[in-house]
Amino acid sequence: MILVTGGAGFIGANFVLDWLAGNEEPVVNLDKLTYAGNLDTLKSLADDARHVFVRGDIGDRELVSRLLAEHQPRAVINFAAESHVDRSIHGPDDFIQTNVVGTFNLLESVRAYWTGLPGGEKAAFRFLHVSTDEVYGTLAATDLPFAETHPYEPNSPYSASKAASDHLVRAWHHTYGLPVLTTNCSNNYGPYHFPEKLIPLVILNALAGKTLPVYGDGQQIRDWLYVKDHCAAIRRVLAAGKPGETYNVGGWNEKANLDVVNTICALLDELQPRADGQSYATQISFVADRPGHDRRYAIDARKLESELGWKPAETFESGIRKTVAWYLANQDWVQNVTSGAYREWLSTQYGV
Ligand code: NAD
Ligand code: TYD
Repeated sequence: MILVTGGAGFIGANFVLDWLAGNEEPVVNLDKLTYAGNLDTLKSLADDARHVFVRGDIGDRELVSRLLAEHQPRAVINFAAESHVDRSIHGPDDFIQTNVVGTFNLLESVRAYWTGLPGGEKAAFRFLHVSTDEVYGTLAATDLPFAETHPYEPNSPYSASKAASDHLVRAWHHTYGLPVLTTNCSNNYGPYHFPEKLIPLVILNALAGKTLPVYGDGQQIRDWLYVKDHCAAIRRVLAAGKPGETYNVGGWNEKANLDVVNTICALLDELQPRADGQSYATQISFVADRPGHDRRYAIDARKLESELGWKPAETFESGIRKTVAWYLANQDWVQNVTSGAYREWLSTQYGV
């Protein structure tokens, strides 16, 4: 079986659902259930013996060591993190605690377990660390996309904490020989995305008749990847990646934020037009920019394609259409996650 951490969050839950849809190997899912973790996403697995959910912290060595001893996983896939840049600006503490100290403790628990495995199992074991392209910093308009060799130049408390975790993972391989794999992925979007991030926030605000907040001039560029393509990439790296290597995962989909927002508005105009016949784009509002806002991210994903044969299945156009349709069809999930804690965040960040 495999141990997944952070499997009640956006990408981790998509990963668990896709994993169990595609094979019989069980999953132990360790998640702290912070504001970003949501068991509702996993409710289709409630009676599925292949999914064992455990509420807990990756930094809790006693708990993690017990889970490893009990379930004897052949791999650990670490999704658990604080993941939202704006939250890291308001309060970096949790980011250091989970992303840096938590990853360190997790590595130590895993190292102790891995050291005690018999030869064949020890050689086959993998620790896969899920990271971000944000560790590479920002690109100018004419720069080449980030390759795996790009220097680490993180600019936000979030990206700095993820960079630190990547360095720890690297060192645990180099020093102790732990068979690690690291993936650095671009911005994900798709089903079950918590509506504090740009794409789900815009969909929900549009439908609720609220303003669509675009930071600064809206010309910041992100390289969007449909979440299920990311999950497929992780499965591929787990199966065939070389220990100690890092793999960049991207969608070859560079888009300016304003173009993303306009695309969502056009899709909503088509799929659920406003009663007054006006476009949702009239709700766009330019607001104060994010401090230290990275201008452009773009991933060079050629290594993953040439060495392991992965490439994304969705274009931005196909993926964003599926995503908007998913939010329109899954209003129950949305109602459940937009709790009091969510409204509190909107008031901290947007003053509404
Ligand atoms: P998310 O915020 O939606 O989910 C994170 C999950 O981790 C939540 O379920 C939360 O409860 C859990 N968690 C937080 N702290 C924990 C702790 N101390 N112990 C156990 N569980 C804990 O994040 P996401 O968007 O699903 O991202 C998953 C991973 O992918 C993160 O490591 C993130 O840095 C990385 N990543 C995300 C993106 C993206 O666009 N969302 C892109 C590249 C990489
Ligand atoms: P986000 O989804 O927070 O991801 P990240 O910061 O990890 O890239 O933001 C994506 C882009 O959208 C980023 O450039 C910030 C911008 N943005 C807005 O313009 N308005 C918003 O309300 C949010 C949440 C993000």
